Formats: sequence, C-alpha cells, structure tokens
Amino acid sequence: MILVFVYYNKLGLFLCVPQMCGCSYTTSSQRNSQFYTDPTDAVKDIPSGATILVGGFGLCGIPENLINSLLKTGVKSLTAWGWVSSCTKQIKRMISSYVGENIEFERQYLSGELEVELTPQGTLAERIRAGGAGVPAFFTATGYGTLIQEGGSPIKYNKDGTIAIASEQREVREFNGRHYILEKAITGDFALIKAWKADKAGNVIFRKTARNFNQPMCKAAKVTIVEVEEVVDVGTFAEEDIHIPSIYIHRIIKGGSYEKRIERRTVQKAQAEKPKPKKDSDIVRERIIRRAALEFEDGMYANLGIGIPMLASNFIQPDITVHLQSENGILGLGPYPTEDEVDADLINAGKETVTVLPGASYFSSDESFAMIRGGHINLTMLGAMQVSKMGDLANWMIPGKMVKGMGGAMDLVASAGTKVVVTMEHSAKGGKHKILDTCNLPLTGKQCVDRIITEKAVFDVDKTKGLTLIEVWEGLTPEDIKACTGAHFAVSPNLRSMQQV
Ligand SMILES: *[C@@H]1O[C@H](CO)[C@@H](O)[C@H](O)[C@H]1NC(C)=O
Repeated sequence: MILVFVYYNKLGLFLCVPQMCGCSYTTSSQRNSQFYTDPTDAVKDIPSGATILVGGFGLCGIPENLINSLLKTGVKSLTAWGWVSSCTKQIKRMISSYVGENIEFERQYLSGELEVELTPQGTLAERIRAGGAGVPAFFTATGYGTLIQEGGSPIKYNKDGTIAIASEQREVREFNGRHYILEKAITGDFALIKAWKADKAGNVIFRKTARNFNQPMCKAAKVTIVEVEEVVDVGTFAEEDIHIPSIYIHRIIKGGSYEKRIERRTVQKAQAEKPKPKKDSDIVRERIIRRAALEFEDGMYANLGIGIPMLASNFIQPDITVHLQSENGILGLGPYPTEDEVDADLINAGKETVTVLPGASYFSSDESFAMIRGGHINLTMLGAMQVSKMGDLANWMIPGKMVKGMGGAMDLVASAGTKVVVTMEHSAKGGKHKILDTCNLPLTGKQCVDRIITEKAVFDVDKTKGLTLIEVWEGLTPEDIKACTGAHFAVSPNLRSMQQV
C-alpha cells in the first residue's frame, strides 16, 4: 500500500490504512457522485496494494471518519496487532514532505521498517495537481543541486543503517539559464478527502486552511471519496463559489462527528502575564529577531519559517504593511487567536492556530506553491543547520540520525526573485561552525541564500564571490567573527554595528 500525504503528525495512527481483502474496485458506472450513509461502505473496496491519497495538513482537514472506518475494518480482520507498528507495517511506502514531529515514525524509517519517499512540499502538490490534470511530468527548479536531483536519498534503510532503496536521479534541463529537474505526476487509486460542505449535485467547498492538499487530491484519483460536515441543497452556495465541481467526486459521506484535533494550540498571551526572566539563549534569539525585523519593507509579501523568522513579524514597524504568506494556504496571516477565536480549520505552516487580517485569502497547497515557485513572494526567512559561503543551505536532515523532511523549504529557496534570508545562531552546540566553506549535510538549496543574520554578525552572500561581513554586534571585531566562523569572508568597507529595531 502506498500512501501519499503531506505532513505526518504526532498522532501517527490515523494515517495508517489496514490491509484489506483483495477485492477489485467497484467504481460506479453512473456519472453522478454517490451518497453513502456508512463511511465503512465508502471505503470497504480499497484493496491491499492500492495507492491512496490522503488529504490534510498536520491534523487540519484530515478525513477523520474515512480513516477511522478503515482502521475499524482492519481491526476486525486482523488480530493482535500492536498500535503504531501494526498500522505502519501495513504501509509499504509513504510519499511525504515532512515527518519531523513523529518520533516513532522516524525510528521506524531509520531502522528500515518503513519506506519513505521525502518530496518537497510544493513538488508534491504539483505532482498531484499534474496527475489530476493529465500532465505526466514537469520541470521545476525545486531540489536542483540537492539529493532530490542527485538521487541516492534514502527511501529505505537496512538494519545496519546502510541504504537499501535510494531515490532515483532526476533529469536536469536548462531553460533561460536556470536549471530545472524533471518530476513525475502522482495519481492514486483512491483519494480520501475532507471537505466542508457538498451540495446534493456533488459539488464541494472547503473551509479556511482545511483546503490544503484536499483540493488537488480530489482530481488525482480514480475513485475520490469525500467526507463533509454538511450536505446542502443545490443552490445553497453559488456556482462561482464551488471549489471542486462534482465531476471529480465519486463518493460523498456526511461524517458522523468531527473531533478536529489541534496539534499546536497557540493563543495570545494574556495582558497580565509577566515576561519570564531572560536566559542567555533568549537574549541571543531576541537579538537575531530584532535584526531580522529590519528586513521587512512596505508592501512586501513574505513567507516566514517557524521560530525566529515568525517572531520577527512581531517587530514589523507600524508604518509599513507586510503581507505574510503561509504555505499551507493563507495570504494575510494575522496574530495568534484569543481563546475564543481558536479554530481547528485555521492553522499556519507550523501547525499553530492563527487568525487572518482583513483582506486575507485562503487557497490550496498547489496554488500556494505556484505563488512561491512563480516568484511572487518577495522575501523568505528561515533557519539553517549550515550555510556555505556560496549560499548553499542545509536544514532538513542529518543522514542516519535525524530526518525532519524538507517541508516547503526547498520550494521556497529555489524560487527566482525571492530574497532568502537565513536567521540562525552563529555556531552549533559545542561551538561547531554553521557557516562553512562547503556544507557537509544534505542541501536544501544550492546557491540560494542572500543574507545570513546571527546574534554576532550579518553577512551578505554573493553566489559567485562569497561572503561579505556587513554588520557586527557591538564590541566584537571582524577578527572575533573570523575566529568563530568556518568560512572565509570579506569585510565591507561600510561595516557597521548590528542594527536592531
Ligand atoms: C515584490 O515583488 C514584486 C514582483 O513579484 C515587485 O513588483 C514588488 O515591487 C516587490 N515589492 C517589494 C516591497 O519588494
């Protein structure tokens, strides 16, 4: 069984699909969507060996009832299975962009019990979109110069930690002086989809950020099974507001109940709450945040990674407007919600609950990455494990030890016309250099970083000439920076002390 989904989350279990009988599909010969009353009936013909597209991002917009039905059916026919292991054992391969939150899953992957094909999130979205649109393959700059292009990325490990199955090398072509890699479309035998409402004609709409991968997945499977919260009369939503026309939908079921779990319930701190006394690490972070905030310019569209970059948005000057994009499908991100405003269908790319500002919009993941890949975002800010003097960036895996997955980072940094700013601590634990002549970790992007901001210094990166030190923290000299940096750099004639908002 092959599962394609986007973010593997902490709870693990729900994404597992039990092994079923070998029965063949019973695709309806009628054109209209079929309405089901029992979710088990809607999924019972899914056979072993099937490729299944499962919608959702983290826990947002997942087809809870359909997945539960599959599990129930499995429990009946299979006895004495352990919990997480039982279901992951029934999955042969997962195609996913991020696995970072699930320790058991990571363990199973690293110990060779599970095949995982890590795919950049935007490439995954477009591969699914292409699958639904009858486009067999396409070229993208995402992943060029990384393991994704070179091949050899581990899909399955042996018990001894060597690689049993490696990813395939991608064909490279040059268009207008840039390098692109060939990526193939994905189609599924079945898609399990969560939508908000369906009308009785089978048209479907989604709610807020619960749209994500559900929209492209609807179109990319032979049999698309959609669960909704409400079935409404035709005409309840206007024709122009329909997100998925009925032609793509084969089965519809109104879900019995929705738990809508929240992975990171994040709310605004109450006014009265006193800030905690600051540790050294907080002081370092705040320095980076206050410098990073100076990168924002009026009218910019920006995508911010979780952590320091996102915190920098708290320091956007009141006289400028910055439109924040979140790659799970928001333009116009607002602050964290109050307790009353928390909505499980409204999360950011870090899976935190958020709000949106007036004028905001929601869209699907394929649309979001078209925006990113198409160079419409002015600034992307993100963390790093290593950066090289030519602007290579590494932030997604330590071979054999840690696999988070690249999420949307490879897509974000591959976009021409988007300024890439790395914010990170100057050195790793134990004083190991993070700024290097060449990265020794697998790359997220090649020659993609434009600026590096640490608590000690700011560097500009010229992709052919290398690093130039442009700011240093007060009291430090270029010599001090040299001593704690693993790469050569030039010193700007206009060197100044590090700026702060
Ligand atoms: C943002 O990028 C667009 C091009 O996509 C450009 O026209 C615009 O001037 C940029 N805005 C800022 C503030 O950099």
